[in-house]
Amino acid sequence: MKTSIALIGFMGAGKSAVGKVLAKRLEKTFIEVDSSIERKAGKSIPRIFKENGEIGFRELEIKVIKEIAASKNQIISCGGGAVLNRINIERLKQDSVIVWLKVSPSVVFRRTGLDVYTRPLLGGIQGSEDIRHLLNFRRPFYESSADFAVNTSKLSIDRVVNLILDKLKEYADYNR
Ligand code: S3P
Repeated sequence: MKTSIALIGFMGAGKSAVGKVLAKRLEKTFIEVDSSIERKAGKSIPRIFKENGEIGFRELEIKVIKEIAASKNQIISCGGGAVLNRINIERLKQDSVIVWLKVSPSVVFRRTGLDVYTRPLLGGIQGSEDIRHLLNFRRPFYESSADFAVNTSKLSIDRVVNLILDKLKEYADYNR
């Protein structure tokens, strides 16, 4: 029986906002992979990217997800690129139903404000067309990782949470 839910999806999809509410509703522990990476590294994500590069960041991400995946009863908010390394998903899948929060490029653009300071991968991105490219590249990774998806582009946080709770009822191997 699975006891956790892992939220995947692009930057700005609402993984953390939705995850916090979901954790309250289900009385489970909310865990943000990015914050755990920052704690482990003792520095911020932009600094990790700057000093260790994206590869250094991905290596840390793999280590942290391995540790997180060993605990139960969690709502795990994954960084947008966690799906790029299949090992992360294999580890998460052992105890988590994987939920893909979908989002349109224009909404990503609006929600992130292309904030390069907190999201280094947005550096070099000019607008929603560039976001569309990156999203198109990532889509198969999200698609093949997810048990199910919810499009958050036009929905409130509560509505997304309710949809997730509804869909979870179809999962016999998930233990509420
Ligand atoms: C990343 C997304 C970020 C963070 C890092 C890389 C990505 O997390 O993990 O900057 O590759 O999409 P959020 O999706 O929470 O912004």
